[in-house]
Amino acid sequence: MEPVQEQFSVVEGLMEEVKMYSVTNAAELEQFRIRFLGTKNILKDVFSAIKNVPNELKKEYGQKVNELKLVAENKFSELEQQFKKTDKTDTGKTDISLPVTIKNPGARHPLTIIREELVDIFTRIGYSVVEGPEIEDDWHNFTALGMPEDHPARDMQDTFYVQTNPAILLRTHTSNVQIRVMEEQKPPIRIIALGRTYRNETISARAHCTFHQIELLYIDEGVTFADMKQTLLYLAQELYGAETKIRLRPSYFPFTEPSAEMDVSCFVCGGKGCAICKQSGWVEIGGCGMVDPVVLENCKIDSEKYTGFAFGFGLERMAILKYRINDIRLFSENDLRFLKQFEHL
Ligand code: DAH
Repeated sequence: MEPVQEQFSVVEGLMEEVKMYSVTNAAELEQFRIRFLGTKNILKDVFSAIKNVPNELKKEYGQKVNELKLVAENKFSELEQQFKKTDKTDTGKTDISLPVTIKNPGARHPLTIIREELVDIFTRIGYSVVEGPEIEDDWHNFTALGMPEDHPARDMQDTFYVQTNPAILLRTHTSNVQIRVMEEQKPPIRIIALGRTYRNETISARAHCTFHQIELLYIDEGVTFADMKQTLLYLAQELYGAETKIRLRPSYFPFTEPSAEMDVSCFVCGGKGCAICKQSGWVEIGGCGMVDPVVLENCKIDSEKYTGFAFGFGLERMAILKYRINDIRLFSENDLRFLKQFEHL
């Protein structure tokens, strides 16, 4: 065959190939596009070979190649359409503006539910929510709260210290936030702080090395023990129902005087006695008291002029009692069988 004839038959061969082409998946379609329409497509070579064609045949050759290009382009859109119809994985047909049905939306963690409830209960009566550091210094966690070094009360809270600097520790309670707030704000002070706390406890069903607390602090002129009692009653009734009663038992904390332990009437048996309240009719919630004048003075607040009260309760304890959870470890294990039980709340 003469070289010219050969060139013409290459074009014809390609025309045949284009017409016969069929695809069954996206990869094959892409191969077609690269071969005939891509940046280095074969038609470019065929076009540039026109320089070897004698002048009198150049026009005819050019027309045939142009026709080939047109047919290839049409074939590509045809294949694309047909392929979209058969391939279910194609997203081109999906209307992404349609609303979707969420199948697994997740749920709030029980501690989050309690937290949000507490924030709601106290912001409603004028408290604001503040935060403090979990990695704390000795002053804010202990000394300023009436527990200088060697104070026996430090033993009540087994502490994680930073190995290279024992003056830095993981806070053992949220009471550190009291100090931080009083150092920075002038009374009247009305705050709550919620957050994670740490103690070097052996992990069991009833104890964990990390848990959460809510701290409340109210400082103003003329604040009395009666104000504290009324605030605690309000909390108990909001949290556990309007029938709930409270009871304050004398206790000891280095940063409050007098100090008390608060019990609420058992919301399971209504005070008659059951397994939850160990037949006593009361369940313990946590500690409270009138802020010790020494603590106020440590924060440069005039203890002759101002008084106040504070409390610190465990969130896990509140959740355990409210939802009858029997193992504190469940809060941090992220077991879906546990978490799913709170979906409706
Ligand atoms: N910080 C105490 C603890 O973790 C709890 C507590 C008791 C906090 C009395 C207070 C309070 O603010 O007044 O054991």
